[in-house]
Amino acid sequence: MSKLRFPRHILHVDQFDRSQVDRLFAHARAMRSIAAMPGEGRLRGRILATLFFEPSTRTRLSFESAMLRLGGQVISAESADITSSAVKGETIEDTVRIVESYADAIVIRHPQGGITDAAAAVASVPILNAGDGAREHPTQALLDLFTISEELDRIDNLTITLAGDLRYGRAPRSLAMLLTQTDGCHIILTAPQGIEMAEDVVATLEAAGVQYEIEPDMVIAAAQSDVVYVTRVQKERFPSEDAYQQARGSYHFTDLHLAAMKPDSIVMHPLPRVDEIAAAVDADPRAAYFRQARYGVYIRMALLDILLGSGGGMVA
Ligand code: NCD
Repeated sequence: MSKLRFPRHILHVDQFDRSQVDRLFAHARAMRSIAAMPGEGRLRGRILATLFFEPSTRTRLSFESAMLRLGGQVISAESADITSSAVKGETIEDTVRIVESYADAIVIRHPQGGITDAAAAVASVPILNAGDGAREHPTQALLDLFTISEELDRIDNLTITLAGDLRYGRAPRSLAMLLTQTDGCHIILTAPQGIEMAEDVVATLEAAGVQYEIEPDMVIAAAQSDVVYVTRVQKERFPSEDAYQQARGSYHFTDLHLAAMKPDSIVMHPLPRVDEIAAAVDADPRAAYFRQARYGVYIRMALLDILLGSGGGMVA
């Protein structure tokens, strides 16, 4: 697929080059004013299906909110792992072949890495990956980078700490890979033993010439960073309870880390938070994680608007 065009399905961050990221962000900024003026109805008559085989609050509801704010409608299988015909043994391919008769685009979250590729291979409507196992979460990475651009006014020449469960977290994996599209990026990886960033992502950073370092001390990392991106221990993906218990509670971002940070830096988290960021941090203006969730609506509006054909000719 030509990089000059917008991808038909949103499956991986490596589908995006810098010019597409810039255009998407410009579109998301325009969506911000449309979100404030509901009723324009750019996607009136279009239907979005959300199929979630794993729990979600933000991703599903922000996709649905985005579609509704654009005047479209939504059909949803919110606990598809329990309530859909997958329970009866239906394959994702068959599910997609059916749901595409009911909807103009399909958002899928699933515990199995790569399943959205299988869905896209048979789909005649756009498939959007809302998280496939521990592999990728491309729309989260796009909204994360958009948050950085809106909060810090730039995406280049930044030092970004990715902290926490970098092995099983699909959000930090996708964000690290998307950061290869920025210039002068310096990534600090801060993860407890056993849940370090996987080799495939490190290899992607190396191939792209992104500077990175490993710094186990989160205070030292925070002091140098423009962004500290904290993540949850992905309990549901650990191979054993023992391995999870070892990682659990091994890091906490507190006012100690905040005190070390620069005044014009930000703290991010894809959420949900369990105990890895102290509640006392929330009141600091540098705590950007709740604002981050709001930027997600604008990015998902922009993606839907582009994919469903009203995005100014950006569709392949
Ligand atoms: C993340 C996910 O599902 O990967 N949540 C989200 O989409 N905002 C992060 C997480 O669950 O820890």
